[in-house]
Amino acid sequence: MLYKNYIGGEWVEGAKGAMFPSINPANEEVVADVAQAEVTDVDSAVEAAARAFNSWRLTPAPRRGEILYRVGQILKERKEELSQLLTREMGKVMAEARGDVQEAIDMAFYMGGEGRRLLGHTAPVEMPNKFGMAVREPIGVCAIITPWNFPVAVPSWKIFPALIAGNTVVYKPSPETPILGIEFTKVFAEAGLPPGVMNVITAPGVEVSQALVRHPKVKVISFTGSTKTGTAIGAEAARLNKKASLEMGGKNAITVLDDANFDLALEATLWASFGTTGQRCTACSRLIVQKGIAPKLKEALVERTKKLRLGDGLLPTTDVGPLINRVARDRVHDYVGIAQAEGARVLVGGKIYDNGGKGFFYEPTLFDKVTPTMRVAQEEIFGPALSMIEVSSLEEAVKVNNDSAYGLSSSLFTENVNAAFTAMRDLATGIVYINHGTTGAEIQFPFGGVRGTGNGHREAGMAGLDVFTEWKSIYVDYSGRLQRAQIDTDVILSG
Ligand code: UN1
Repeated sequence: MLYKNYIGGEWVEGAKGAMFPSINPANEEVVADVAQAEVTDVDSAVEAAARAFNSWRLTPAPRRGEILYRVGQILKERKEELSQLLTREMGKVMAEARGDVQEAIDMAFYMGGEGRRLLGHTAPVEMPNKFGMAVREPIGVCAIITPWNFPVAVPSWKIFPALIAGNTVVYKPSPETPILGIEFTKVFAEAGLPPGVMNVITAPGVEVSQALVRHPKVKVISFTGSTKTGTAIGAEAARLNKKASLEMGGKNAITVLDDANFDLALEATLWASFGTTGQRCTACSRLIVQKGIAPKLKEALVERTKKLRLGDGLLPTTDVGPLINRVARDRVHDYVGIAQAEGARVLVGGKIYDNGGKGFFYEPTLFDKVTPTMRVAQEEIFGPALSMIEVSSLEEAVKVNNDSAYGLSSSLFTENVNAAFTAMRDLATGIVYINHGTTGAEIQFPFGGVRGTGNGHREAGMAGLDVFTEWKSIYVDYSGRLQRAQIDTDVILSG
């Protein structure tokens, strides 16, 4: 079966009829072939989205919301089937695949509700018989470029707010998970989204993404992925004066203080570090642990990490699935050498895992004796590798936490309310958790990070609309005479 692109309401092959395979990272089998878009297809997709913009913009927002509700409903009905396909294409275990789809369902209903809100505001004006208001306006064609690690949830954070606000979309999913991108698009088509409002193009390599970013009719770019690609997109967008929202790397930390609930901190650290095989932007990759609790926590972590069962995410017995591909797996292994060369010690893991000769598995790995400046404490590894750093105090922990090029998520385990509030104020990340690991953000709150993680935008929640709307301020003067703001005010005061 060939998965096709969706342009102007038609399922089409790429201009050259080329295809590329999507590979199951657990067994290296081809899940299916996918149509490969060319640069000329980018043009067709953007033109289709541009043509659809005017009538979609003028469709009442509550009607747009109803289509989003239908999308949510269909996703609910197809949740199990989509989750299975997600595990096959991306590798995460089934429970997490279901969570991925659920996050999109939540977002569909949340943003569907925005169809009857999309709140603007009014404020008093200076003159009599005059009215002022600010309303949100759609911007035009949005390019949505998404990663493979949350192939349904992350696109939903971008596509739903873009659509509810009245924009049209050209969506380019990661070439590692094109099938899920196409299946997600099918749901919109089935829900009755008019042709051209959402288009999907799939291709490996950078050319198609570049053409999309550069296309003069693309007005907004929303990207989640690597810091390298995001930075390049940001530079290009700045040159072309386009709005770009970038969500990039993370180097998230959990801090465990001596007074923490031990069992809770242990479970949460394992889940945040090795869930999704460490391939979340929010994954914990640094454990900052106070000296008193450190020996006991390290021992328990070693014991529990050894017990994690690796395998195909479709099997109910699997705790940790594969990495997305060979390059990703080998990168984790490279960091083992880098860590050791800098004086860190591997307590557990540190080896490629052989699952019958197939798939890209790596043993969950714990690094001990890590100091805050080592590369494993600073660079994003995006795999199942946790660096443990000992500190003496909360103050030192906060300093280590914040001394990072990234700033997405951080977490503190303590039973002390004063420590918790100090951390909530001082941990310099876009997301802070108390007594909960670094993962598991919910869609009704803003998602994004500070420093190198992003460029100041947020996704999801009410803030998620900001990227996809422009403010229009409207003044209505119904006095019937010329009233000059800032100038005629005194005249009025004196009657
Ligand atoms: C991501 O890794 O890009 O907060 C998204 C979380 C999930 C989303 C992660 N809800 O871990």
